[in-house]
Amino acid sequence: MNPVTAVPPLAPALQDASRLADAPLLRAFRGLPVERTPVWFMRQAGRSLSEYRAIRSRANLFEISRSPDLTAEVTMAPVDRLGVDAAILFSDITVPLAAIGIGLEIVPGVGPVIAEPVRGWSDLPRLRPFEPDQDAPYVADAVRLLVRALDVPLIGFAGGPFTLASYLIEGGPSKTHARTRAMMYGDPHLFRELLDILAGVALASLRSQVLAGAAAIQLFESWVGVIDPVSYRRQVLPATTRIFDGLRDLDVPTVYFGVGTGELLALMGTAGSDVVGVDWRVPIDAARARLGRHVAVQGNLDPVACLAPWPVVRERAIDVLLRAGPTGHVFNLGHGVLPETDPEILRRIVDLVHECRVEPGAAVAS
Ligand code: CP3
Repeated sequence: MNPVTAVPPLAPALQDASRLADAPLLRAFRGLPVERTPVWFMRQAGRSLSEYRAIRSRANLFEISRSPDLTAEVTMAPVDRLGVDAAILFSDITVPLAAIGIGLEIVPGVGPVIAEPVRGWSDLPRLRPFEPDQDAPYVADAVRLLVRALDVPLIGFAGGPFTLASYLIEGGPSKTHARTRAMMYGDPHLFRELLDILAGVALASLRSQVLAGAAAIQLFESWVGVIDPVSYRRQVLPATTRIFDGLRDLDVPTVYFGVGTGELLALMGTAGSDVVGVDWRVPIDAARARLGRHVAVQGNLDPVACLAPWPVVRERAIDVLLRAGPTGHVFNLGHGVLPETDPEILRRIVDLVHECRVEPGAAVAS
């Protein structure tokens, strides 16, 4: 008899966890040495892939999210097509809000639009606690389906409290986040209370994804870069720290990402995540200097660079690899894949990152 088949099978969840414990993504997130830098792309599952658009023509975002089979299909498409080192669950940061009964629509070409925005204390009771098992069981079902099928770690995610608050307060996407900042200055207690509630939503969502088998999580605090460091420290950091503290017992790597956060990086590095995601505005070596060595970095090729001819993309990607150095770096874009990106360019970036061996202290063009 083949001695391998004689070994009693492990319980599925345990088998999945042990099988991927040494995955380059998880090692790099933890700052451990890797043979090659791992790579994945924020927003890799939607938008630019024809596989997604085909499914999207039959079902909208929330319909896909509520179907574990469709979710799994969309989540796996970029792994098969691009060869990335991680899958990111197909969902949206607004899914838990919709699940607790917030009237919410994703308007094509616009983004999430909230029927009744949050403007005062009397709006807070509408934000009841999120109970993933009852309110959105399809998320954990999709995670369980995926961890059985995938050969790479699955990243779960949630929206950060500031970013969720900004959609709720503005009522939809905003360039200035004026109402959000006005509430933060004008009624700091209300703002803190709102962020605390939303941190609870994010934490419940992330814990349930990890308990279902997600191997790492990312907190998308996309729009926090619109505020100043003093407000960030007083008004956003405490709720955020609660999220990372609340995940520690689960022992999965955590990533904290925002856009335009150059002035906030040093503080973001104290929130308790293992990794900080950096956008393209700060060279990743400078970001490391601001963050300190206790966190790993993720990023940070400009998504717009992917629209340039390949030799340009190649040069810029290599520059990111050299600046970041060989350990504690997961290659990614500085923000999500743009819908018009040619997936072939993403595939070539993956191959390039996998082929490069970054020597410690390698020279970087200044
Ligand atoms: O890899 C993926 O694209 C899949 C998973 C994913 C979605 N949203 C699907 C989605 C992820 C990780 C998100 C996170 C998300 N959602 C963020 C943080 C990431 C970031 O880009 O900063 C934010 C700010 C949102 C809010 C949101 N949802 C916006 C701004 C939009 C509309 C604009 C857009 O991206 O097209 C959505 C809707 C949404 N979420 C879509 C998808 C694929 C488009 C919906 C559609 O196809 O109709």
